[in-house]
Amino acid sequence: MKGIILAGGSGSRLFPITKVYSKQLAIIYDKPLIYYPLSVLMLGGIKEILIISNENTIPLYRQLFGTGSHLGLSIEYALQEAPRGIAESFIIGEKFINGDNVALILGDNIFYGSLNFFYNSLQNNKGATIFGYRVNDPQRYGIVEFDKEGTAISIEEKPELPKSNFAVPGIYVYNNEVIKISKNLKPSARGELEITDVNREYLKRGQLKVEKIGRGVSWLDTGTPEALLQASNFFGVIEQRQGLKVGCIEEIAFRMEFISRNDFESLVNSLPKCSYREYLERLLKDS
Ligand code: DAU
Repeated sequence: MKGIILAGGSGSRLFPITKVYSKQLAIIYDKPLIYYPLSVLMLGGIKEILIISNENTIPLYRQLFGTGSHLGLSIEYALQEAPRGIAESFIIGEKFINGDNVALILGDNIFYGSLNFFYNSLQNNKGATIFGYRVNDPQRYGIVEFDKEGTAISIEEKPELPKSNFAVPGIYVYNNEVIKISKNLKPSARGELEITDVNREYLKRGQLKVEKIGRGVSWLDTGTPEALLQASNFFGVIEQRQGLKVGCIEEIAFRMEFISRNDFESLVNSLPKCSYREYLERLLKDS
């Protein structure tokens, strides 16, 4: 299973935060936003990861993560010249995916809580597996409608009159057909290759599974300055209460055994003196 993080876009709604780099580098409490979706892929055991972004931001991601080898990962980077839609990820990433299955996560999507919904989909996906999460503002998302048996019967992108309150979060698992399907898409009215159209094609083929995510999982919004502040406060509260970090990629690399204890120790020693390092030093001592 390969992993793609789509982390470009124009970010115009968050200007001037996004004037010089893309939104996924905005800070959520004590780390860049992209650490959270990267953590989710890592926790799913995915080690080969492609980060897709724009010209300005790719060099910054390279500075942040390099080749990923210090985390036991292989991270590659690819350019999306313009925000031509989420489904373009699979066209840009065709070589990287290379006949494999692929999990896509949007670089601005944060999930917190039990991630079993995701882990199970990685094991069991046949065609496409996507998720449904109850929200209060369904007009803003891809919306899935279920019949009485709980089977998905329609998906619409940002409907004016939503047929349900179940939004499709930005985490998707596909078989290799997704490349062909994406290549056959026509741009939507807003000029994008829509991920919703990919999901509709799988639905038409009878190969789409939509799993509802329970209320115990938090899927946080990062679309506005208020939402960024709320997400920061949310993780500030959790991290201070538990004394454990969320989305700490070095910790996850160690716990998932992507790196040895020795490698973890060298990694910790390479960090500047700061509370993030102290946290990792504590883990090292306790391990
Ligand atoms: O967050 C979940 C929602 O994401 C889904 O429910 C929708 O079905 C899906 O279309 C998408 O809706 P958004 O309107 O939130 O997508 P947005 O255009 O904001 O893009 C999501 C992220 O992906 C954003 O951080 C920018 C990045 N992006 C987006 C596009 C279209 C790119 O890097 N390149 C792109 O071409």
